[in-house]
Amino acid sequence: MNNSELIKLALEAREKSYSPYSHFAVGAALLCKNSKVFTGCNIENSGYSATNCAERTAIFKAVSEGETEFEKIAVVGGNADEKPSGFCPPCGICRQVMKEFCGNDFKIIIAKNENEYKSVTLEDLLPLSFDKRDF
Ligand code: THU
Repeated sequence: MNNSELIKLALEAREKSYSPYSHFAVGAALLCKNSKVFTGCNIENSGYSATNCAERTAIFKAVSEGETEFEKIAVVGGNADEKPSGFCPPCGICRQVMKEFCGNDFKIIIAKNENEYKSVTLEDLLPLSFDKRDF
């Protein structure tokens, strides 16, 4: 699956965002190495710290279905009333969750739309990181 196709799925997932507090809607689409795709949206909570980001929703859905080998993830986010106008890089907690399952070459496609995106690696977003191989 190419980057534009994955971004389209992330945009569709974003429509499911439950974000009544921030009104910032995020969608993600995670491509597994076996070509399966899992999507996710952010899910907020009145106890704000219970909020789950779109990226972690997608990753946790995949892991809970037995998939732990991932190739890339597309992420789109922005004001819920509009199409994304800027880039939405993954938060620090999501980067650490990616690190648990993905190698440094895992790709994060940070997109505004199917045509405007940046592709970076996990190593770019989380250099000198702590992971399970460190203990
Ligand atoms: N959010 C994500 O879903 N992914 C990110 O990488 C950044 C932030 C969500 C969390 C919260 O629901 C809203 O965006 C505003 O922070």
